[in-house]
Amino acid sequence: MDKRRAKRNRTLTVSADEAATLEPLISATEDLRTDFRDDMIVNADLFDCLDLLPNEYFDLIIIDPPYNLDKNFHGRKFLSMKSDDYEEFLRSWFGKVCDKLKPTGSLYMCGDWKCSSSMQRVIEERLTILSRITWQREKGRGAKANWKNGMEDIWFAVKNPKHYYFDIASVMMKRKVLAPYRVEGKPKDWDDTVDGKFRLTHPSNFWDDISIPFWSMPENTDHPTQKPEKLYAKLILASSKPGDRILDPFAGSGTAVVVAKKLGRHFCGIEINRDYCLWAAKRLLMADANPDIQGYADGVFWERNTQPMKHGCDN
Ligand SMILES: C[S@@+](CC[C@H](N)C(=O)[O-])C[C@H]1O[C@@H](n2cnc3c(N)ncnc32)[C@H](O)[C@@H]1O
Repeated sequence: MDKRRAKRNRTLTVSADEAATLEPLISATEDLRTDFRDDMIVNADLFDCLDLLPNEYFDLIIIDPPYNLDKNFHGRKFLSMKSDDYEEFLRSWFGKVCDKLKPTGSLYMCGDWKCSSSMQRVIEERLTILSRITWQREKGRGAKANWKNGMEDIWFAVKNPKHYYFDIASVMMKRKVLAPYRVEGKPKDWDDTVDGKFRLTHPSNFWDDISIPFWSMPENTDHPTQKPEKLYAKLILASSKPGDRILDPFAGSGTAVVVAKKLGRHFCGIEINRDYCLWAAKRLLMADANPDIQGYADGVFWERNTQPMKHGCDN
């Protein structure tokens, strides 16, 4: 894990000494049997945990499984397969994960164009899909003989479409006003502030205001498919209340558990890779010292590169 990095590179690492102090923060499969409680990171194979987690316990489940791609998660390789086989892989855990959701709960599942239709079919077997968010995700070089992939899907589903929690007011977006319209000299539906002209808008299911974590951001780790905190903050704010419980069965570097903590929710994250659990544990400690979420301040989501520097970062 010892890499040479540029001076301004803020990618999180865990030294051997730090690992020793972080280890006690990480639970094992057995702890689910004997000492299940809120706010756990569990270093385990999800398949060993599914029967140990309580049913109808979580208000929100956020799932970012391996996509149907060849991907090396630091030594543990996930290999792409035929769509039918990938669908069976999803089914092998999805039903039991749904059992963990309260009857009023919500679930999000992330995917890309290749695995998204399999996800839709499998989710619809158990839940009602209410929307599919498209996240415009700028990353990587262009493909030579194909369109560069610049998007991801996030499926939004609930157990009971007549009874679920959704708080649109908590995820409003602050956008720069391009054509400031005035009536009798006064701003119409926008604010003239010292930081510029802004309008509060309702978010749609197309999200183009979130960058992937990159090396100059303190949330960045070496996880190959880490999700941005800003993205998960929207899901958590809209679909859970403070004090609610959130499950992430493929926790990776811990983005969901960290954002849950920053926003005052309880969490449980399951992750098979020990180093990833250590990164998550360190991020949780850092969240105590600094609960900021890049791109989210003063209760609103700022358009890319518009958040004033007084909040300590650009976005
Ligand atoms: C797409 S990544 C999740 C990334 C995460 N959302 C983040 O922001 O860092 C999927 C994760 O699932 C983990 N994983 C794969 N199979 C697993 C299993 N059977 N049990 C637990 N974790 C597993 C991988 O190690 C990987 O970190």
